[in-house]
Amino acid sequence: MSVVLFGFGGVGRTFAEVLYSRTDVRIAGVFDSGGGVVKCAGLERAELRALLAAPRGGVASSGVGSRGGLEEALECADVLVDVSPPNYSTGEPALSAYRLALSKGRAVVTANKAPLALRFGEFLGRPVYYKATVMAGTPVIDLARGLVGQKVLRIRGILNGTTNYILTRVDRDGLSFGEALEEAKAKGYVEPDPSIDLEGLDAAAKLVILANTLGASLSLQDVAREPVRYLGRVTKYIAEADLERGAARVAPAKLQESDLLASVGYTLNAVEIVTETNDIVVIGKGAGRLETSLALLNDALKALGRIGRW
Ligand SMILES: NC(=O)c1ccc[n+]([C@@H]2O[C@H](COP(=O)([O-])OP(=O)(O)OC[C@H]3O[C@@H](n4cnc5c(N)ncnc54)[C@H](OP(=O)(O)O)[C@@H]3O)[C@@H](O)[C@H]2O)c1
Repeated sequence: MSVVLFGFGGVGRTFAEVLYSRTDVRIAGVFDSGGGVVKCAGLERAELRALLAAPRGGVASSGVGSRGGLEEALECADVLVDVSPPNYSTGEPALSAYRLALSKGRAVVTANKAPLALRFGEFLGRPVYYKATVMAGTPVIDLARGLVGQKVLRIRGILNGTTNYILTRVDRDGLSFGEALEEAKAKGYVEPDPSIDLEGLDAAAKLVILANTLGASLSLQDVAREPVRYLGRVTKYIAEADLERGAARVAPAKLQESDLLASVGYTLNAVEIVTETNDIVVIGKGAGRLETSLALLNDALKALGRIGRW
C-alpha cells in the first residue's frame, strides 16, 4: 500500500517520517514546487532519508527514484496526501490534483484547507479525508461526523492558534500587540503571508469546513471577516456560524470571564457546538507539524481500510 505526497515542507517531511517509523505503508511519489519523483515499488528508507536531506525545492533533482508527474505517481499509489500551501483564490494546484486522484479511483487525505473551503460541495460523498484541516491535534471533524442527523444550531470557536497566542500574550502577560506579533513570528507561528492569520482567512476556512461537515452549505465567500485586534479583557478572535440562518463571521470579541472560551489561552484551540439536545465544548491543540502529521496518518490509515468499521 502506498501514498503520494503532494508537498514536502514542514508537515510533509514530518508525515513521511511518522509514516515510515509507525507503518509499512510506503511513499510512491513525492512532489514539491520544483517537480517530483516517482517510485512505484515505494521508497526504501534510505531513499526517504536522501529526500529528507535534500533542500526545499530539491525533490526532482535529488537523484532518488525517477523524475515523473503526478498522473504517473497516482497510477501506482492508493492515496494522495496533500500538504501543499493553501491558495485561497483558486484552490490550485491542489484542486486539480484532487480531481485527478479521484478520477483514478484514489482517495485524498489533506491538511490543505483551501480546496475544501472553496468547493466543499464538490467533494461531498467522495473519499476525501480532512481531519488535519481543523484543530489538527484534536479530532473535531470526527466529533462533527458523529453529530450528523442532529439539528446543529450554531458553532463558535477559537480556531486560529496564532492569533490566540498574540491576544493571550497581550491580555495575560502585558505585551503590546506589536511585540506579541513579533514574538509569534519568531516562534514560527505566523503563516508566510501574515494576513491569512491576522485577517481571519485561516479561521474562516476552518469554520467553513466544520460547518459543512455538520450539514451546512457555506463557502469561504459567505464568511464576514474583521481583522484581529485587542479590545480589552478578555479578547478572543471568534469564528462563529449560525447554521439555521446560514450566517458566519470571524471577528474579535470581548468575552465574559465565565465564558469557557475565555480560559482557552496561547496556541490552544476550542470549539463549541450547540445542537438541539446538547452544548458540547472541546478544547485542545490545533496545528503543529507533529499534530498535523498524526491526523494525516489516522486519515491515511482510514483511507487504506486499516481502521475497522463497526
Ligand atoms: N504547519 C502546520 O502546523 C499546519 C497545520 C495544519 C495544516 N497545515 C497545512 O498543511 C499544508 C502544509 O503546511 P507546511 O507547514 O508543511 O507548509 P510548507 O512548509 O510551506 O510546505 C509546503 C510544501 O508544498 C510544496 N509546494 C509548493 N507549491 C507546490 C506545487 N505547486 N506542487 C507541489 N508542491 C508544492 C512546497 O515546495 P518547496 O519545498 O519547493 O517550497 C513545500 O514542499 C498547508 O496547506 C498548511 O496550511 C499546516
